[in-house]
Amino acid sequence: MSFMVVKHVFFFLLHLLLRHVVTAHSYPLLARQISQDKAALLAFKNTLTLQSQRALSNWNETTEMCEFVDVTCEQGRYVVCLQLSNRNLSGYLSPVLANLTWLRRLDLSWNELSGNIPREFSSLRRLEYLDLSVNYLSGQIPASIFYNCTSLEKIYLSANVLSGQIPSAAGIGLRRLSVLNLYQNYFTGRLPIWLSNSSSLRQLDVSNNHLSDELPTAIIQDKPQLKVLQLSLNYLSSHDNNTNLEPFFLTLSNCSELVELDIAGAGVGGFLPHAIGRGPRNLSIILLEDNLISGAIPPDIANLTNLTLLNLSGNHLNGAIPKEIFRISKLQRLILSNNSLTGSIPPEIGNIVSVELLDLSSNKLSGEIPSSIGNLVRINHLYLHRNELFGSIPATLGRYMSLNDLDLSFNRLTGKLPGEVSGIAKVMLNLSNNQLEGSLPAKLGKMDHVQIIDLSANNFTGVIPVLSTCVELKLINLSHNHLEGQLPTELGSLRNLETLDVSFNGLGGEIPSSLNKCTDLSFFNLSHNDFTGWIPTGGVFSRFTNLSYLENPRLCGLVLHRACRRRPPQWRHSPKFLIAISVGGSVVAFLLTLCCVKLVRKMEGMGIPRRGDIFGGSSPVVKSSYPRITYRELVEATEEFSQGRLVGSGSYGRVYRGMLRDGTVVAVKVLNLHTGNSTKSFNRECQVLKRIRHRNLMRIITACSLPDFKALVLPFMANGSLDSYLYSSSSDLNLIQRVNICSDIAEGMAYLHHHSPVKVIHCDLKPSNVLLNDDMTALVSDFGIARLVMNVGVGSEVENVGNSTANMLCGSIGYIAPGISMLCI
Ligand SMILES: *[C@@H]1O[C@H](CO)[C@@H](O)[C@H](O)[C@H]1NC(C)=O
Ligand SMILES: *[C@@H]1O[C@H](CO)[C@@H](O)[C@H](O)[C@H]1NC(C)=O
Ligand SMILES: *[C@@H]1O[C@H](CO)[C@@H](O)[C@H](O)[C@H]1NC(C)=O
Ligand SMILES: *[C@@H]1O[C@H](CO)[C@@H](O)[C@H](O)[C@H]1NC(C)=O
Ligand SMILES: *[C@@H]1O[C@H](CO)[C@@H](O)[C@H](O)[C@H]1NC(C)=O
Ligand SMILES: *[C@@H]1O[C@H](CO)[C@@H](O)[C@H](O)[C@H]1NC(C)=O
Ligand SMILES: *[C@@H]1O[C@H](CO)[C@@H](O)[C@H](O)[C@H]1NC(C)=O
Ligand SMILES: *[C@@H]1O[C@H](CO)[C@@H](O)[C@H](O)[C@H]1NC(C)=O
Ligand SMILES: *[C@@H]1O[C@H](CO)[C@@H](O)[C@H](O)[C@H]1NC(C)=O
Ligand SMILES: *[C@@H]1O[C@H](CO)[C@@H](O)[C@H](O)[C@H]1NC(C)=O
Ligand SMILES: *[C@@H]1O[C@H](CO)[C@@H](O)[C@H](O)[C@H]1NC(C)=O
Ligand SMILES: *[C@@H]1O[C@H](CO)[C@@H](O)[C@H](O)[C@H]1NC(C)=O
Repeated sequence: MSFMVVKHVFFFLLHLLLRHVVTAHSYPLLARQISQDKAALLAFKNTLTLQSQRALSNWNETTEMCEFVDVTCEQGRYVVCLQLSNRNLSGYLSPVLANLTWLRRLDLSWNELSGNIPREFSSLRRLEYLDLSVNYLSGQIPASIFYNCTSLEKIYLSANVLSGQIPSAAGIGLRRLSVLNLYQNYFTGRLPIWLSNSSSLRQLDVSNNHLSDELPTAIIQDKPQLKVLQLSLNYLSSHDNNTNLEPFFLTLSNCSELVELDIAGAGVGGFLPHAIGRGPRNLSIILLEDNLISGAIPPDIANLTNLTLLNLSGNHLNGAIPKEIFRISKLQRLILSNNSLTGSIPPEIGNIVSVELLDLSSNKLSGEIPSSIGNLVRINHLYLHRNELFGSIPATLGRYMSLNDLDLSFNRLTGKLPGEVSGIAKVMLNLSNNQLEGSLPAKLGKMDHVQIIDLSANNFTGVIPVLSTCVELKLINLSHNHLEGQLPTELGSLRNLETLDVSFNGLGGEIPSSLNKCTDLSFFNLSHNDFTGWIPTGGVFSRFTNLSYLENPRLCGLVLHRACRRRPPQWRHSPKFLIAISVGGSVVAFLLTLCCVKLVRKMEGMGIPRRGDIFGGSSPVVKSSYPRITYRELVEATEEFSQGRLVGSGSYGRVYRGMLRDGTVVAVKVLNLHTGNSTKSFNRECQVLKRIRHRNLMRIITACSLPDFKALVLPFMANGSLDSYLYSSSSDLNLIQRVNICSDIAEGMAYLHHHSPVKVIHCDLKPSNVLLNDDMTALVSDFGIARLVMNVGVGSEVENVGNSTANMLCGSIGYIAPGISMLCI
């Protein structure tokens, strides 16, 4: 009986086993292994929030486990490597991965995993490589991992939010450890002493934590293979209560392979010992900046012949810069800034010809800048500011090939700015707060990539050179000099300009309104000069207050609450003078008119085309005193009249927003035309309309005409039309604004009817034809366009411009669109 049961059970089990063998093509133990690993992987996938379908795409029941993407099996059986770096995985880091008992390499870096590092991972006894860096893991490192995962060689946990102490108990068995990277977490307490048992350690990075400890001599002892030691941004101290760096550097000298030493910003104090020169021959990077290191820089440091980067900035170093330091011919970056170094810059500085960054700023260096500094032809950044250097700027600086920044500010430099030096900087030229004199070299304008020019607080004289090729300029500070002349109008071509300070000079003339094109301008100071005339209004000028214009007695404008007073000399008012002028003027005008008429007749007779014909014929250009804009430029400006640029359309045509090559933003009104070659009359009408100038009338910048293309170019009004204000729900016109707009419209119309050079009746006054500029002044537009279109359309040839405009056209005299009435009621 019991035998039968046993037999049945046996056969049942055999059957089960065989099924496993058949499905897994392997023997039972491995079949179980595979299913366990597969179950673990699928369970892991289930715990994740996958942000992209592509991640872990074929991890499902039907796919062979060893075919899973990012999974490596060994012998087609067990998962040994899981490579899931940067797969957008988020969710808690699941302990289920601990079931992958054959795992040797686990890389989950650069994801968004959160939660703790599961203590179950300590069963991953074969794990050699663990990379969980750049996630949101928190909590402590489970000590059991450091006890039990004795195969671990490389541990990367950087850039998480791990905290607590680094497990530190004795007996931790990570003897094969070669990399421990805990950079940028919140670890506290001391460096783990068991690291001294990890004799293969090559890289230790615990930077940017809250560790507090003495510099770890025990850990680096007997570590000839240590290459990288990074302890920066912790709370460390040197021996003898943070006064003695010697024991550390002596121990370090046995780390014969060390390449990088980083103890920056760790609060370490003491003198730099001579022993630093016994340091490892291959040492290439020393970062000791932002500590409490005092005393002189030992000349022995020059024995570190492979040094490429030495940063001792922000310490309490004093004494002179040892000239030996410049024997380190491979130095690329030498930063000794923010110390109390004295003496002069040794001429040997010219020996470090590989140097790319040299920063000796904010010390007490005196003497002249040695001309040998010009040998550093590969330099990108030269900072000597905030010292006590005197003498002149060596012209040898002009040899630099690739200088980005030159900062010599806050010294006592005298003499002229050598022309060859003024053109070298690619990003920043700062010579402010010296006593430089003479005029500004024209070469300043040759720095086509420069972003900052600061020459303030010197004794420069002469005029401001043209800087229009420095198109990337963001800051110009020429304040506190003795400059004269005018602000160059070309400043308007510096599109990136944010700061312009020319205060405290002797500049004069009018403020160029071209500055309106510098749309990013946010700091503007013209104070303490002798500028004259009106301050331009609107655009960027609306951002600046009277503080930008202090102490310019002859400047006027609303922002100063001061109007320009024209005080012509008294004799001009005398009746005799007026009579003389009127009589003389009339005679001259009469004679001139006669001459002109004759000349024109004669030209016509000889077949010489008149000016209008030259421009108005087949050549798509515009008129004399108005900017010439070709059809091609209009096509460019409006991106081939693209839909994206269309801002409105109506019965007369379509309006596009465009930007001319010089950056002016314009509205381009393309007129709907009947066919017919009437270019000449169109141009004449335009000429007339262009002469109409009034504050409340839309100015026509220019026109462009071809036989089958006619367009008007008008200033672009960012605030759009009154229409959009009246009929939009977000209309926020207050009563004052409404009254002002009504009065603006009335003034514009009155001018059109009574004072303009030609009488025009609008015929189509409606809110959409009233545009608002930056300061909400209303401008009436589209006057006379009906006439243009009509004349052009029928191709009528009008003999006399004056007559033709006197015969006023009009569709609807007395008609005013209801919107306007609505506004004004
Ligand atoms: C992981 O292994 C444990 C014990 O071997 C088991 O209880 C658990 O079900 C396994 N989990 C998965 C998802 O395979
Ligand atoms: C499993 O993934 C493979 C590959 O992406 C796919 O072809 C298959 O349909 C999936 N099976 C299931 C059950 O989703
Ligand atoms: C991760 O997500 C970003 C955007 O969310 C996407 O651009 C990127 O391709 C994704 N990476 C992977 C490996 O799916
Ligand atoms: C770690 O090893 C110790 C003994 O070596 C053992 O008692 C403990 O259970 C192990 N922990 C895990 C999670 O495997
Ligand atoms: C170093 O290893 C020895 C045994 O080899 C052990 O006794 C000692 O506790 C370990 N030291 C530390 C700090 O873990
Ligand atoms: C260490 O120095 C600090 C201040 O520098 C001092 O307050 C403290 O008493 C010193 N400790 C010892 C043991 O000398
Ligand atoms: C450097 O190593 C040598 C030989 O291994 C040893 O004698 C010496 O004491 C070590 N020096 C320091 C400061 O650890
Ligand atoms: C220095 O570095 C070179 C090349 O990286 C290497 O061949 C040499 O062994 C190193 N020297 C020492 C003393 O470690
Ligand atoms: C540095 O090298 C010089 C000779 O090159 C030697 O005299 C001096 O002792 C060395 N300094 C150290 C600290 O090894
Ligand atoms: C370091 O300098 C020594 C000579 O002082 C040279 O033999 C060695 O190759 C250099 N190492 C590197 C990495 O440049
Ligand atoms: C040197 O240290 C200063 C001060 O912390 C820092 O601003 C600078 O970026 C460092 N330069 C280099 C090249 O490490
Ligand atoms: C240069 O400027 C300083 C102060 O800014 C002034 O004392 C000195 O007289 C000036 N020198 C010349 C030549 O203008």
